Amino acid sequence: MTTADFDREKLVSAAQAARARAYAPYSGYEVGAALLGKSGRVYTGCNVENAVYPLCTCAERAVVVKAVSEGERAFVALAVATENGGAPCGSCRQILREFGEETAVLIADASGAYRETTVAELLPDSFSATDLS
Ligand code: THU
Repeated sequence: MTTADFDREKLVSAAQAARARAYAPYSGYEVGAALLGKSGRVYTGCNVENAVYPLCTCAERAVVVKAVSEGERAFVALAVATENGGAPCGSCRQILREFGEETAVLIADASGAYRETTVAELLPDSFSATDLS
């Protein structure tokens, strides 16, 4: 599976379905994410909030943890779905960067409309493993 041939609408739909499972009783801002691995498998995640506010987990972080813990480390694309088409936060950009700069990022709103960018565009001049070697 590559960025050239994946089904963008299908990945956005998976992110929207994941958004329906968001646990966001404090902010009310529900986020869903779907991550396509190079294997072709799609992982999904949502934000999971906590009464101790700093413990809230973003949808993008949740989906990366799910995928990596299932053995997948190479990704083609991430779709993130919110009500208003909000972009991934800075922390999640860094979480995504760990596994590659070329990953496509589809940022969708509740209608299913989306814009496409990449991790490299969202997080230019990033810090990564190569800086530690
Ligand atoms: N949130 C995400 O899930 N992803 C982001 O990239 C930005 C913010 C969540 C965290 C919190 O549950 C809610 O949205 C409001 O910040």
